[in-house]
Amino acid sequence: MNVLGINAYHGNSSAAILCDGQLITAVEEERFNRVKYAAGFPQNAVRYCLEEAGLTIRDVEHVAIPRNPWARMGTKLFYALRMPRFALDRSKVLTRFSGIHQDLAQACHVDPESVQAEQHRVEHHVAHLASAFFVSPFDQAAVLSTDGLGDFASTMWASGRGNRLEVHGAVSFPHSLGLYYTALSQYLGFWKFGDEYKVMGLAAYGEPAYQDEFRQIVKPNNGHGFRLGLNYFCHHQTGPQMSWPESDKTPVLGQLFSPYLEQRLGKRRPPAELIAKKHKDIAASLQSVLEEAYFRLLNSLYQQTHHKAVCLAGGVAFNCVANGQVFDRTPFSEVYVQPAAGDAGLAVGAAYYVYHQILRHPRGFAMDHAYWGPQFTPEAIRQALNDSATNGSSGFSRQELPNEELVRLTAQHIVAGKIVGWFQGRAEWGPRALGNRSILVDPRRAEMKEVLNRRIKHREAFRPFAPSILEEATAEYFELSHPSPFMNLAYSVKLEKRAKIPAPTHVDGTGRLQTVSRSTNPLYWALIKEFQKLTGVPVLLNTSFNDNEPIVLQPQEAIDCFLRTKMDVLVIGNHLIEKRNQT
Ligand SMILES: [Fe+2]
Repeated sequence: MNVLGINAYHGNSSAAILCDGQLITAVEEERFNRVKYAAGFPQNAVRYCLEEAGLTIRDVEHVAIPRNPWARMGTKLFYALRMPRFALDRSKVLTRFSGIHQDLAQACHVDPESVQAEQHRVEHHVAHLASAFFVSPFDQAAVLSTDGLGDFASTMWASGRGNRLEVHGAVSFPHSLGLYYTALSQYLGFWKFGDEYKVMGLAAYGEPAYQDEFRQIVKPNNGHGFRLGLNYFCHHQTGPQMSWPESDKTPVLGQLFSPYLEQRLGKRRPPAELIAKKHKDIAASLQSVLEEAYFRLLNSLYQQTHHKAVCLAGGVAFNCVANGQVFDRTPFSEVYVQPAAGDAGLAVGAAYYVYHQILRHPRGFAMDHAYWGPQFTPEAIRQALNDSATNGSSGFSRQELPNEELVRLTAQHIVAGKIVGWFQGRAEWGPRALGNRSILVDPRRAEMKEVLNRRIKHREAFRPFAPSILEEATAEYFELSHPSPFMNLAYSVKLEKRAKIPAPTHVDGTGRLQTVSRSTNPLYWALIKEFQKLTGVPVLLNTSFNDNEPIVLQPQEAIDCFLRTKMDVLVIGNHLIEKRNQT
């Protein structure tokens, strides 16, 4: 039984394939077409999924699409009548989805008649819920999906038992915690798609001085989720102006906040303006009131389900600061957030929803690692190196080493303060580099944050970098030790350890940690272990292998990034390449 999941014509387009209930591969289109958050039809991702599974499109029995144009039709019609432009946008979306069969055939280079798979439409948030629960290790769990907007809902909650999901409630347009966060991020001068996580990082520098005002922006709704103070917004009057241009460039979002917000908080911050204390306090207030609403939802969900575990999905589930507080602010004792908690994960969620909920197959898979993307053979890596400017150049030293020696020398370079690009095995699923497409440095050196930004990453100085820690050492360094394998929970670093790992410890004393298990990534685990042998510290600073682009996927992209930035060392497969005379 082969099920292909496709998130298409939407940000973070992606594909995933299941064979007899086992996930074979899952990958975002952006990794192939090199357009961050790419929308459009994920033709490269679909082709890769089929190739990796050893299938053709003729072998696929079911195609799962996380979009149901008929969901919430009453609300859609109500707003369509009030907003003609919005109605037009809706009709364009419907037209695109009706052509998905042709796009699939075109991507697979076959006639549309050859695509015999049954198509299933799964509502956006139902697919999010499925993406969180059906791949979790839990037989029973509460499940919450929270994002900007999808199929006209922004939030949905459910109870998961075995191969069933039972939806208990939802919050519909125009009320949305995701749009709230995006609107205030825009007000603070962060307009790009996906910028909300920057504002989350900024929040740690401020005090929630505007909390009372923000409690008018997001309000409780008599035990049924939350409501937005709509006078602060304009999306309910103009329509949610999210566009995915025909050229499939990065998604674009129109202004969401109203003039009333500026009357209350003052003029918006232009993107080039210096970030003042006021902006930091607004970010802190934004985060604080998001957390209040999030924990009201979660506590209410606990009261409804009494499950001890909770699974989280949707863009808001990337709020690692909130996720890390679940243990303190709710009765839940276990949390699972799959690595692609945002819209890319819909491809996996829709596929599993079809497999379990519709076709009623039993559970038999848990996603305990994130390495579901493409990998490259030693020959392909050697060929890419031979074709590169590093080959035969006196500016580089190149060695091919067995694993043990590779790990030993790499750890020595990190201890010596070098910036190391680390490219191994299958690419990560989701937006975080988790030790297969990573840039690694010494976490003990406080200056590495500035050095990384100056030489490679060019990120805003206020944004934190993340620590990877040996799973078994988590309790030694952090106040909590619940596993965080996908870097989507932030915990407080123990007071006495903050000076030991200053580079990935944020200004508020937290770290968005990745707990690294020997069983799921033995080579990365061995590298951190070797670093611990040399320094006593079982932690590396881990940031994604890229420079203002999607994370590198192919060997050639890693080599190009190494060559055009001031990275010192590239470890790719079993090759270690060092730049000579790097300044
Ligand atoms: Fe979503």
